[in-house]
Amino acid sequence: MYMATTPNGIIAKKDDDTSFVSDVEWRNFRRMIKSTGNMIIGRRTYEIMRGNKEFRGLEKIPVIIVSKKLQKTLNQRHHIVRSPKDAVAFLKKQGFKKALVAGGSKNNSSFLKENIIDEIYLDVEPTIIGKGIPLFQANIESRLKLIGIRKLSRNEIQLHYKVLKK
Ligand SMILES: NC(=O)c1ccc[n+]([C@@H]2O[C@H](COP(=O)([O-])OP(=O)(O)OC[C@H]3O[C@@H](n4cnc5c(N)ncnc54)[C@H](OP(=O)(O)O)[C@@H]3O)[C@@H](O)[C@H]2O)c1
Repeated sequence: MYMATTPNGIIAKKDDDTSFVSDVEWRNFRRMIKSTGNMIIGRRTYEIMRGNKEFRGLEKIPVIIVSKKLQKTLNQRHHIVRSPKDAVAFLKKQGFKKALVAGGSKNNSSFLKENIIDEIYLDVEPTIIGKGIPLFQANIESRLKLIGIRKLSRNEIQLHYKVLKK
């Protein structure tokens, strides 16, 4: 899983504004997507990214959208699956050994709850937002082991965790 977050665990404002995310982070995120070769996102994140034309430059990347509602996409590389397990099965079938889960809050929570997340990368942005969309939903709890810290810029760090599976 890879996310940009405020130090207090907010990934977007209530109105989905993510303008606190820097260009450095955004470039880093896109590099990670390209190196994994795929991305799994929840239906709301998909709709927001599509609306903002954020798939530009990622045309070759299969995007797996987790949704019970969505019926079709207009792009043949954008695939709908009905659950986190189906997302993993789909990518395995395509020959992928790794998958990148990239939000949002509900989707992250579904994957963590099902014990599917092995590692978490958090790019911490230097902004506090009191109210907004959290990294995970309120009922989620998980133990982590810190396996790396990287400075992305003068003002940003990346935390890298391993998820200690139950
Ligand atoms: N800071 C960052 O790095 C970052 C990254 C990504 C997103 N975001 C932000 O996060 C926000 C979106 O997060 P969100 O929690 O509202 O939405 P989300 O997680 O992107 O999407 C939620 C939807 O995903 C589907 N879903 C999730 N778990 C599922 C499961 N177990 N089975 C089937 N479908 C499942 C459902 O779709 P259906 O309702 O269609 O069934 C659900 O309504 C946006 O503001 C976005 O900008 C921030």
